[in-house]
Amino acid sequence: MRALRIAPIDSEGTVPEIYHQDEKRFSRSYRQQPPLIPHSIARYQIDLRTNQCLTCHDWTVAGERGAPTLSMTHYMDREGRQLDRVAGTRWFCNQCHVPQADAPELVENTFESTARN
Ligand code: HEC
Ligand code: HEC
Repeated sequence: MRALRIAPIDSEGTVPEIYHQDEKRFSRSYRQQPPLIPHSIARYQIDLRTNQCLTCHDWTVAGERGAPTLSMTHYMDREGRQLDRVAGTRWFCNQCHVPQADAPELVENTFESTARN
């Protein structure tokens, strides 16, 4: 049996390495990829009523906030109509957009970017 505490009880355990989020713009790994988030999102709440991402990224404010504007696809409803407000299907941003850390993969995989083929 292997103990959870790998080091002996009378010695200092080793702390697992912490991988911090990369804060830079990322290239996409395939053309349709939702771009990775280049900044911290810890303080930006998203719930049924509030979406703090929109305070910088919505088309109405992005210019003055110096943030990239949401593309047209974020304002299109299921019937293909263009809306002035972000579509319900795009409300929960982190369903598609995620931060990134340069950490070893949790599950081995053979993914290769199509950008470099
Ligand atoms: C305080 C303003 C602000 C808020 C709030 C904000 N962002 Fe951003 N976001 C930016 C800016 C500025 C950039 C461009 C950063 C750069 O160029 O390095 C950016 C870049 C991005 C990008 C990268 C786009 C690309 O083409 O590479 C994504 C994705 C993104 N944000 C998603 C989000 C999400 C999701 C939230 C909410 C959880 C959010 N942002 C909240 C200001 C903000
Ligand atoms: C269903 C998945 C999905 C959701 C939800 C979603 N996005 Fe995106 N987003 C994408 C994809 C895919 C792209 C790249 C292709 C495109 O622009 O449509 C993108 C592009 C972007 C870009 C780059 C636009 C550009 O022209 O450079 C930003 C910024 C962004 N999204 C922010 C957000 C924010 C903020 C939210 C929440 C309000 C959000 N997205 C919700 C999938 C999504």
